[in-house]
Amino acid sequence: MAKKRVAVLISGRGSNMAALIEAAKAPGYPAEIVLVLSNKADAGGLDTARNNGIETAVVDHKIYGKDRAAFDRAMHQVLLAHKIDLVCLAGFMRLLTPEFVGLWSERMLNIHPALLPAFKGLDTHQRALDAGAKVHGATVHFVVPEMDAGPIIMQGAVAVRSDDTETTLAARVLKVEHRIYPAALRLVADGRVTLVDDRCLIDGSAVPDASTLTPE
Ligand code: GAR
Repeated sequence: MAKKRVAVLISGRGSNMAALIEAAKAPGYPAEIVLVLSNKADAGGLDTARNNGIETAVVDHKIYGKDRAAFDRAMHQVLLAHKIDLVCLAGFMRLLTPEFVGLWSERMLNIHPALLPAFKGLDTHQRALDAGAKVHGATVHFVVPEMDAGPIIMQGAVAVRSDDTETTLAARVLKVEHRIYPAALRLVADGRVTLVDDRCLIDGSAVPDASTLTPE
């Protein structure tokens, strides 16, 4: 089966993007990262992508002002030009229009630094600490119009320690992110993920082994 052509969308340092690029170098990985697209020309991840010989593109949201639809259309054109099969949002900090999301339905993944549906939005690690959560983590899910919602493909958990700060907790969650995003993309690119009643099944069953990463 031909490898799926993947675009990674970033806004910043791109460590999840880098994890996807590294994973995709493995022989037999079912996807190749062919494009890294950023809404910011100074996103650190763009250099990492270029150093790996991956084509980059910048669609600057500021040029479009409040016209989100025009920004999304511009991105869509770039994705079409590169014959993209799957889109991975990796620290891409723009809200997407329902129209754009619909065009990539079941073909666009996002990683969120919390165990959804808990702690949608920003500052997830501090909010988990403030809530006294004992378990925290990260989620890879299909993107739907509602922010930080959508069928969950994979989750990874970490135990929260009593001496954790936002920084230490974020660092442990990030390590989990770097494991689950490549694993989730592999599952999707291999065609092993099906949607039943808006829930993801792996290999047609609810067996959790492939879709969870639990604390050590
Ligand atoms: C990651 O922790 C990702 O989960 C988060 O931004 C960070 C990007 O880091 N995404 C969101 O908060 C999306 N709402 P990275 O650029 O090093 O991958």
